[in-house]
Formats: sequence, C-alpha cells, structure tokens
Amino acid sequence: MNKKFYVTTPIFYVNAAPHLGHAYADVIADTLARWHRGIGERTFFLSGTDEHGAKIVRAAQKAGMPISDFVEERRDEFKQLLIALGALNDDFIYTSDSERHWPGAAALWKKLVDAGDLYKATYKGLYCVGHEAFVTEKDLADGKCADHNQAPEEIAEENYFFRLSKYRDRIKSAIISGEMSIQPASRKKEILAFLEEGVEDISFSRPSKDISWGIQVPDDHEHTMYVWADALTNYISVLGYGRSDDANFKTFWPADAHIIGKDILRFHAVIWPGMLLSAGLPLPKMLLVTGMIRSGGQKMSKTIGNVVDPFECINEYGKDAFRYFLLREIPFGEDGDFTSERFHDVYEGNLAHGMGNLVSRTSAMIIKYFDGQITKPKVESLAGVPTRRGGDGEVSLDHYFDNNIAKEFSRAMSEYRITDAITLLSSFFSLLDGYIQDYEPYRLIKTDPDKTKTVLWNVAIHIIRASRLLESFMPDTATKMMRVFGANIKMAENIDVIKIEPCGSIFPSKSDESKAD
Ligand code: MSP
Repeated sequence: MNKKFYVTTPIFYVNAAPHLGHAYADVIADTLARWHRGIGERTFFLSGTDEHGAKIVRAAQKAGMPISDFVEERRDEFKQLLIALGALNDDFIYTSDSERHWPGAAALWKKLVDAGDLYKATYKGLYCVGHEAFVTEKDLADGKCADHNQAPEEIAEENYFFRLSKYRDRIKSAIISGEMSIQPASRKKEILAFLEEGVEDISFSRPSKDISWGIQVPDDHEHTMYVWADALTNYISVLGYGRSDDANFKTFWPADAHIIGKDILRFHAVIWPGMLLSAGLPLPKMLLVTGMIRSGGQKMSKTIGNVVDPFECINEYGKDAFRYFLLREIPFGEDGDFTSERFHDVYEGNLAHGMGNLVSRTSAMIIKYFDGQITKPKVESLAGVPTRRGGDGEVSLDHYFDNNIAKEFSRAMSEYRITDAITLLSSFFSLLDGYIQDYEPYRLIKTDPDKTKTVLWNVAIHIIRASRLLESFMPDTATKMMRVFGANIKMAENIDVIKIEPCGSIFPSKSDESKAD
C-alpha cells in the first residue's frame, strides 16, 4: 500500500480578511502536498476556518451583520484565497459546521470525560479576546496584552478544566524522542523550556450565557467549549472522527505535518497532544513552525495600514511569483519581511530576467537555428559538452542534475527544508544560464552546428527536468516551461525530440511595461 501524507494549515480566524500570513501557510501546505502527491503518496491536504468565540462575535457586531452571514462571507474569502494561490486542498473544514465538525468535537470531549480529565472549578483570571486565551500579569505591558494592545477582561466563573498537567511528562518525552517532532530546532527548545517550568490545568469551557456562539458541552448545555478545544479538533473531525464514516480518519491520522505560526505553537505542542493523549490517540508526527512575516519591518496592522493583501499582489504579478517570493525569500522557520519594492526586485531579477529569460533565449535559438525542433544527440556528443560551472569539474549536466540537484532536492523536501529545495532549483537555472554563456551557442552555430545542437538540447532537456521538480512550488510556471519545449508533466523522462511551442514571456517584465507607458 502507498504511503500516506496528511498536511494541514491552521484554521483561520474569520474576524478579518485573509492576509499575507494566511497565504503563507496555504502555500507551504500546498507545496508539500503537491510534492507528496507527485511521488505517489496518498495525500490529504486540509485547510479551513475557525469561526467560534468572542473575537468573531464582536467582529460580526462591528460589521453590523448576523453572525452566520458574516462568517460565511469571510469563509468564502479564505476559500477564494486558496484558489487564487493555486492550492489544491482536498477538503475545507469550518468549526460552525454542525454536521461535519461538531460530532468530532463532542466525541473527543467525551473521551476526555471518560479519562477523568475534565472537572469543574471556579476560574478567576484575565482573558485576552485577541488570543482567545487566559493570560497572566507577566504577559502584560502597562496592563495591556503586548500582542494585541488591548486590556484583558477579568473573569470569574465556573468552568470545566482539562487536566493538562497530567500529561506534561508524556508530552515532553514525545517531543524529545521525536514521536512528535518540532521544526525548527529553536522552537523545539522553546517549548521544552516552557514545559520545564511546569504546566497547569486549563479552563476548557465558558458559560453559554456569556458565549453562546460555539459548541455546547455534551450533556451540559450551560457550557460552551473553549474555542481552542473546539478548533484543534478540526484536524480529526474532518476525517470523520466521531462520525459513522471514519475511513479517512483510519487512513490519514496521525497528521504528518501541521503547519503553524510560532504564535500558536503552545496550543499545538502542549494542549493538542494533551487532548490526544487523554483520548488515547496518536500524536501528529511533525509541527512545522513558521516565523512571522512583517510588512516593511513592522507587524502588519490595520492601524499602521501596512497589511499586505495577497489578492492584490497575485493580480499584479501572478500566483507563481507570489508563491516563489514566500517560499524562496522568507527563510523557512524564520521571521521575514515583505515590501513591494523587494517583491518587485525579486520578480524582475530572479523571474523575469532569470527563469523567464532562460526559457525565451533557449527556445528562440532552437527556433532560429534548428527550425524549432531538435532530436536527442548521440551519447558521445553529449559527453563532449560537460558542465563547466557545476563546481564538480568536467561532469555532464545529466550527472550533475541527478546527483547534485534531484537527489538533494528530494532529501530537502523529505526533511521539510523548503527554502533549500527551491534555492537548489533556482541555482540550477542560473547554472544553465552560465552554461549558455560558456558555450556561446550564438557564436558556436557559425562553426559547429552539431555541437550547438547538443548544447541547446542539454539546456532544454534540463529545463524540462528541473520544471518537473518546480511543479510543487510554481505549478503554472512549470507547466508553461515544459510546454514551450513540447513536454508535459505526465511524459516519461526519456524524451527523444524537443519541438518548440512558442509562447509569450513567462514572466513579463513589469519595468519594461512601465517604461512603455
Ligand atoms: N484560528 C487560529 C488557529 C487555530 S488552528 C487549530 C489562528 N488563526 S489566525 O488566523 O490568527 O492565524 C492563522 C495562522 O496565520 C497562524 O499560524 C499564524 O501564525 C499565521 N499568521 C498570522 N499572521 C502572520 C504573519 N504576519 N506572518 C506569518 N504568519 C502569520 O491563530
């Protein structure tokens, strides 16, 4: 039976419109899903929206809309974003879905009850609506939550508590042993240090009279489930956990990778495994923790007016350019910065003048010198034109591609080193540029047409080969690049003829456009 691969994005709060940070998780998950699907694994890629809780209720009130209309409208924007990004998610879950999500949330809650891990107690504390979590004095600066610049609310009420403290040691050992890995290592260290300080039981419900927009606690409708208890369950409710048809749950759980931002690490690395352990379920295999993307060096905020709208950027530059920027220019796992200037420079440099130019130059020469068609040269003649820039001496491009690119690329992808993988590909495209410069087919044609053909064959066939790997990152570009050379993703690797199908510029230069205006 084929291996399976289950990858998730966080489910997004619908209180605000989708922004760059949300698009980032979508793009990473899609890239991983495409790769695993491409290597024949049974892949399930999930995204969705987090629609309960005080934060959403207030946003709907502010918008003057009935809450169900409000969440539906916003949910649609998140679905549209996935489409705009070219993301092929297999499902989309939302927490207000009483048919598909609630049974799973209720079933998991009951498991926690059966394990004796839920008890009632009075809670007194400070609740930050921005976080949808209780905070302590040390999380505050001048009496306000440092992340949300908002004073927390004082709450004293009877809640259900989850006996999280009981699972601290088990969670710790699962992280240390790699049963539940956390990448990058700095985040693993951070969470282990956090666990070291001790873990307290947490409030797991709110009175329904105060918060009714949520899932009621099974058998006690005076209480509504804590939003995070409700939300985290999405990863299994979608697979049919707690419903009669749970075949997907049996196939796909545990998740292979949860993509999360560093701000929601504790929920995923402590509360979620606590719940799963209490219910006797396996833990996710990997938490892939991304950094935060700032905009122009600052946290994105409506007040500053620097929130990056992914739709705008995609409309102007295309989805693949946007994907490329996020995957290549924001080092995976680290914080990054987005500015339109930098985006523009990367587009012009790496895409329009880099990848795009390589394809148009190569195809134009094949058209000009060989009427748009070349056949595979003989082995001796291929061996006669080694790559000069591989850093490997006189090796053939084939050998270089197999050993230094394809193999390394697979390794990077299987180790979730996404930025490394795409960097390998873009460096290979630069190598092909250098190869053309070294052999100068535009001069060589005058003296040695056969050798010129071999040089162009080598470049074209390696653009095709690299495009097959690029597909996970830049699906449309990869398809176009293959199509120019008469190939497609389904074709076997052993191509005998390359026939050019001219197409316009893959990445039209935006600078030229503005000059022309
Ligand atoms: N609803 C919760 C997640 C529940 S998962 C069971 C939530 N939603 S969110 O919409 O606020 O954030 C979703 C994801 O977007 C988080 O992983 C968060 O880290 C990420 N990002 C939000 N802003 C971001 C940036 N500026 N940069 C990168 N990622 C960011 O949290």
